[in-house]
Amino acid sequence: MASHWEEFFATHLPPSDFEDNRILLKEFCDRHNKCGQRIVLVTSGGTTVPLEHNTVRFVDNFSYGTRGAASAEYFLEHGYSVVFMHRLNSLEPFTRQFNGQKFMDMLELHDRGPNTTITVKPDSVDVLAPVLASYKAAQDAGKILYVNFTTVSDYFWLLRAACECLAACGPRALLYLAAAVSDFYVPSNQMPTHKIQSGAGAPNIQLQLVPKMLAPLVSLWVPHAYVVSFKLETDESILIRKARDSLNKYKHKLVIGNALQTRRTRVVFVTSDSSYEIVLSREQILNGMEIEDIIVSNIVLNHTEFMKTHKY
Ligand code: PMT
Repeated sequence: MASHWEEFFATHLPPSDFEDNRILLKEFCDRHNKCGQRIVLVTSGGTTVPLEHNTVRFVDNFSYGTRGAASAEYFLEHGYSVVFMHRLNSLEPFTRQFNGQKFMDMLELHDRGPNTTITVKPDSVDVLAPVLASYKAAQDAGKILYVNFTTVSDYFWLLRAACECLAACGPRALLYLAAAVSDFYVPSNQMPTHKIQSGAGAPNIQLQLVPKMLAPLVSLWVPHAYVVSFKLETDESILIRKARDSLNKYKHKLVIGNALQTRRTRVVFVTSDSSYEIVLSREQILNGMEIEDIIVSNIVLNHTEFMKTHKY
């Protein structure tokens, strides 16, 4: 009998751009694997659950994509090649720093008829230049690949394809699963084709449990990789217990627990034999430090240890 996760793939079609993304993923992973590079897959942003095939309404999982986008930048700084798998229109590395009107406010328009030019305001150059330099360096060296998803089904198809490509990297592959993934969904064969009509009265929508893909991911898809997952809770008192439950169940290397309200300044690292907190001090916050800087530095150390000891 097919397991719950196999049934999911058997009953949900891949996204329309799946083949193109699979080719990009394969080319990227093969190229960096050949050079003995460490590669990290960063997942980021929330997945949606459509309520109709021609989707007007959907259920969404909370995430701006800040954690994933910032972490991708720090992994690049540590020399990793990065597959950045993100929710379409969520925050991306580098551009996240100038989101919304911020970027426009950094520019000056010199309107001289046909010779119109645009320049960066002098007081913005110091802010923009280092970010632009890092962006260009990553692009020119082909060190980052962007792939995107919207629905939970798109996410799982891409995640499995990325894992299939990363498997060849053995312990040099690191998975950093920061995306906020739906736990409930409407199976494809139970979804109406067209927009649900309000005239028919309040709809009775029965959500079902999404299979936990961490299970096949850890045991079958990338058995030699260093896998880190995030655990999000809103009740801090259950955070460590839930993180440890996840680790015991899926047997991966590390769960990083965070509470919705404090996620920017406090996380807890839970491994099979320890748990420790990372908390940004007031001074670090005032100096503009980001918690992802510390999270990524710690993970890089753990991954380095793992690579030394893991038999492949
Ligand atoms: O993007 P930001 O605004 O900066 O916020 C960051 C964050 C709070 C979203 C991030 O730090 C975070 O906690 N991400 C994980 C949220 C989440 O999905 O938690 P969870 O408890 O639902 O899932 C735990 C793990 O199980 C996840 O690693 C997920 O990949 C995995 N999972 C979840 C559902 C599912 N069906 N299969 C899975 O494998």
